[in-house]
Amino acid sequence: MYKQLKPVLSYFRSKRLIILPLLVSLISYSYLTNQSLQQQKEQFQPLTFEQADKIADSVLKLMTLDEKIALIGGDRSFFLRPLPRLNLTEVYMADATQGVHIRDKFRDIDLSAYQLERSTAFPCPLLLAATWNADLSYKYAEAVGEECRAGGIGFLLGPGMNIYRHSQCGRNFEYFGEDPFLAARMIEKYVKGVQSTGTVATLKHFAANNTDYYRRKSNSIVDERTLHEIYLPAFEGGIDAGAAALMTSYNLINGEWCGQSEFVINNILRKQLGFKWLVMTDWWSVYDGEKLAKSGQDLEMPFAIALKDAHLLINEGKVKAADIDRMVKSILRTYFAMKLNDRKKEPAYLEKFGDHELIALQTAREGVVLLKNEDNILPLKNEVKNILLTGDYVEKLAVGGGAAFVDGYNNRLMLDELKKEFGDRINFVKDPTPEQIKSAEIVLCNVGTEDREGRDRPFELPEEQEQKVISCVRNNPNTIVIVTSGSGIRMTNWNDQAKGIIYAWYGGQTGNKALAEIISGKINPSGKLPVTIEKEFKDSPAYRYIPEGESLYTGWNAEVEKSRSVYDVHYKEGVFVGYRWYEHKNIEPLYPFGYGLSYTNFEYSNLNVSTEKFNENDAIVVSFTVKNSGDKEGMEIAQLYIQDIECSIPRPVKELKGFQKVNVEPGQSKTLQLKLNKKDFSFWNPATKNWFAEKGKFIIYIGSSSRDIKLKKEIDLL
Ligand code: BGC
Repeated sequence: MYKQLKPVLSYFRSKRLIILPLLVSLISYSYLTNQSLQQQKEQFQPLTFEQADKIADSVLKLMTLDEKIALIGGDRSFFLRPLPRLNLTEVYMADATQGVHIRDKFRDIDLSAYQLERSTAFPCPLLLAATWNADLSYKYAEAVGEECRAGGIGFLLGPGMNIYRHSQCGRNFEYFGEDPFLAARMIEKYVKGVQSTGTVATLKHFAANNTDYYRRKSNSIVDERTLHEIYLPAFEGGIDAGAAALMTSYNLINGEWCGQSEFVINNILRKQLGFKWLVMTDWWSVYDGEKLAKSGQDLEMPFAIALKDAHLLINEGKVKAADIDRMVKSILRTYFAMKLNDRKKEPAYLEKFGDHELIALQTAREGVVLLKNEDNILPLKNEVKNILLTGDYVEKLAVGGGAAFVDGYNNRLMLDELKKEFGDRINFVKDPTPEQIKSAEIVLCNVGTEDREGRDRPFELPEEQEQKVISCVRNNPNTIVIVTSGSGIRMTNWNDQAKGIIYAWYGGQTGNKALAEIISGKINPSGKLPVTIEKEFKDSPAYRYIPEGESLYTGWNAEVEKSRSVYDVHYKEGVFVGYRWYEHKNIEPLYPFGYGLSYTNFEYSNLNVSTEKFNENDAIVVSFTVKNSGDKEGMEIAQLYIQDIECSIPRPVKELKGFQKVNVEPGQSKTLQLKLNKKDFSFWNPATKNWFAEKGKFIIYIGSSSRDIKLKKEIDLL
């Protein structure tokens, strides 16, 4: 592209201002002509970094200092500021990972003109992670990206990918679970899907932002090895997939606010992970303009606060003109590379909303996890005539709140969807008496939580719900519990007595249809847990992450947050997060990572490893056979873990390094192949600041969950 523009550029260089409108129209011409959506999509190719850099450079030369300073602070909370003299148009940004958050108003800013009339409420990202289907992650994200195009939205403020360090984090539903490998594979595809539509993917929140408990005051104390092995791989996946933006987080890392930390941005993000594109702050999360300008940060959101006296900082010599130029150039590079000029609503994309709803439905069908199915109580038999339904999220949708909230349309309620499947056999009772519970053939008891940004929530269910579910399991042995939550909950008091347990997460607008189809057997469940569910919160690695003596039960309060001092969150478990922790400490969880049942059975055999003795540069191919030995078609998620059994530093008992979801007909077998490379065997060596594959023996495990290992083989790194 730049080559084609070069003669034009040099001709107009002297006529400075004439060039911009021309340049910008040339860049975006393919979007302004009346081509079909498909043609547009095929043509969407971002410019390379070098191409965008050259254009950014020529534009930067035309800018006054005032214009530069104007650009590095956001505008009206959700915009990149327009600079009409330079023909740079405003760019609208919208949350988030599970679909477009429609906001008519933000504080006193009227945003109604920028909103879509509707947007699809997709299942929450944690449910997407539970599908373990990276291709579905692409489709889901492509659909979200298309909704952004429908709404003229240039930046999607997502995907979010903070690791599930503990079950109480109010934002777990927005992220991809506890395992860095699974999260990274899902994020790679997510980024590619969003950006295939020309919408910018904004990776967030960088980094170690694993609690929302007074998040603006939490200081994550975490070592470099832990960052690289656990908290950064998902970002790396997004960076390698070409994400054109990234958002820093509210918290501090080792004493520095992430959004203005040279260590976090210049050192880790830019130098170690190689991120070259636009970095923006989270909303109201930075405090020192001088530090910010030197940290590698580019754009302060929602507007310049730390940078409000940028002129003064420059005059005093605290910030150099070159720092400002660096920030501006970075913003412009993403702007030009992603062809963000003049993004307008494109109603033609509304025609695709039907397809988007189907993708949302498919995601829910694949991400609901069946945890317990004693006596094959599920799917419900035709003979069952009297099903008692109760629960808090039967007549209203269970959803996650905060920036990620999506209203949805055609929202399907649990009650309606179950009625569609079972008709009059469903008897909904809000507060059933013990007698009503006893007299039902089957009880479907729904429990859930209302997770949201800005606060954490207890592992325990609210007391009323806990009492209700206990009453159901005590009074009726045929109780099936349906959990609608964005994270793990305590099930210890009733797990053993419940005959069935379905983890349905937040399923979005079509989630309850998928749930009803699973209960009736039209759909065979195939989701597996992307997190471990502990028996007691005190079992979990991050227990005591909030300061001793404090409680989540008092709720979040803006005034308290402002007035309180910074508190330390020690990542004392290091790399032993999630199943790595429970295995290392020999703590039995209630349900392990990677676990989920199907209505059929799978058998594993024939493990083959291409070489049993290998050098670090050899690629290893692991193959094995999965047979459907039951009588229903079903999907299995086969998982590959490695264990380093001869190592100089403590390493986890298992680390996920491969997985594949496969559909198998009854009686059929499929042979799967997974590849491993040097990085898969490596740990992060803080001394050399690099990955290191240490010689010695490793075990390769193939399992249907992290604890249900079917096959294993020892191999030797020479
Ligand atoms: C959230 C971000 C979000 C931003 C804009 C912040 O409070 O942490 O995830 O993108 O608001 O809505």
